[in-house]
Amino acid sequence: MKRILITGGAGFIGSHVVRLFVNKYPDYHIINLDKLTYAGNLENLKDVENKSNYTFVKADICDFNTILSLFKKYEIDGVLHLAAESHVDRSIKDPFTFAQTNVMGTLSLLQVAKECWQGNFENKLFYHISTDEVYGALQFDGTLFTEQTKYDPHSPYSASKASSDHFVRAFHDTYGLPVVITNCSNNYGPYQFPEKLIPLFLNNIRQKKPLPVYGKGENVRDWLYVEDHARAIDLIFHRGKIGDTYNIGGFNEWKNIDLIKVIIKVTDKLLGNSEGTSEALITFVTDRAGHDLRYAIDSNKLKNELGWQPSLQFEEGIEKTVRWYLDNQAWIDNVTSGEYERYYEQMYRNR
Ligand code: NAD
Ligand code: DAU
Repeated sequence: MKRILITGGAGFIGSHVVRLFVNKYPDYHIINLDKLTYAGNLENLKDVENKSNYTFVKADICDFNTILSLFKKYEIDGVLHLAAESHVDRSIKDPFTFAQTNVMGTLSLLQVAKECWQGNFENKLFYHISTDEVYGALQFDGTLFTEQTKYDPHSPYSASKASSDHFVRAFHDTYGLPVVITNCSNNYGPYQFPEKLIPLFLNNIRQKKPLPVYGKGENVRDWLYVEDHARAIDLIFHRGKIGDTYNIGGFNEWKNIDLIKVIIKVTDKLLGNSEGTSEALITFVTDRAGHDLRYAIDSNKLKNELGWQPSLQFEEGIEKTVRWYLDNQAWIDNVTSGEYERYYEQMYRNR
């Protein structure tokens, strides 16, 4: 029996992790703690919400006393920490919220775990889910981020995640807290909030709205299907080495403009449009401030030590993803109504 606190379980990646753990481990108790910000949505977990090994708690990770009492009430022995503000563009507009949630929230969780587990760290684990953005930007020279790459964050988002990683390591080095950190590349798949490139673009294609490509579309990202990330998290949670870091990536680099053309092709095909119709929607807009040129992950450590590798070919993953969004238009319409619509209009008026 394990009692696992998953933070941010109502978000994109968190919901896939919660689903995997609830279904795969009926003898674990999964406690999903989420503040339900604009990015958190319990609709993402409809299929597991009535399972007897699942509990949802609406709370803020920054609220130390609430987290402490939940830890005691549920006798938590493992933490999978995913709750965060996750969108780079928002961090450029409002860095304070990112520092508050990503840094102070992580610190408050660490402090609770330390207080509750002190004196008995055996079979306990604090697992921080982090990003490859902490490593900064690569040039077009074929190099990859490894676990030894020095931190060099550029955006307020990546600075906040780098800071939280440092706190996690500091709690390991100073107090002996059993921790593990993973730094993952760009995820895609169902339930991703449509402010991120792939769901935003396929939703805009559906609505015949402009596709805002930042700069010249030459930046490169390394894309991984979200369920492959969730599988890696499961493996590392159970078999990762305490105190270690693991990089997770798809060995799947795409220049934005090329990726966008693939999204257009697949979406047009599924919508019954003739090939390339939606390329006319491509609109080059002002670049993102401090836009990192290239991310690419070397996940060989994870492959060699624990035998993980991505299971899905990119073409298959993209088609699955586009189909999911087209089949779940009510989900998109629901999450993009109201406050988000106003945010999006303002964001793009300013570009
Ligand atoms: P998301 O924005 O979709 O979800 C974040 C979740 O955290 C939401 O459910 C939100 O309600 C919750 N949350 C936010 N602030 C909170 C608070 N103060 N207290 C409690 N809950 C709060 O994010 P995501 O894309 O699923 O990312 C999850 C984690 O994985 C993040 O830590 C992110 O940095 C990391 N990550 C994301 C990617 C990616 O491509 N999306 C890649 C690597 C790492
Ligand atoms: O690398 C991991 C990171 O990937 C995660 O840590 C972040 O939480 C996640 O949001 C993601 O960050 P990115 O900034 O790479 O993702 P985003 O989808 O916002 O952008 C992907 C690329 O597309 C990036 O180069 C910017 C560009 N872009 C994005 C948007 C939203 C556009 O050209 N136009 C857009 O409208």
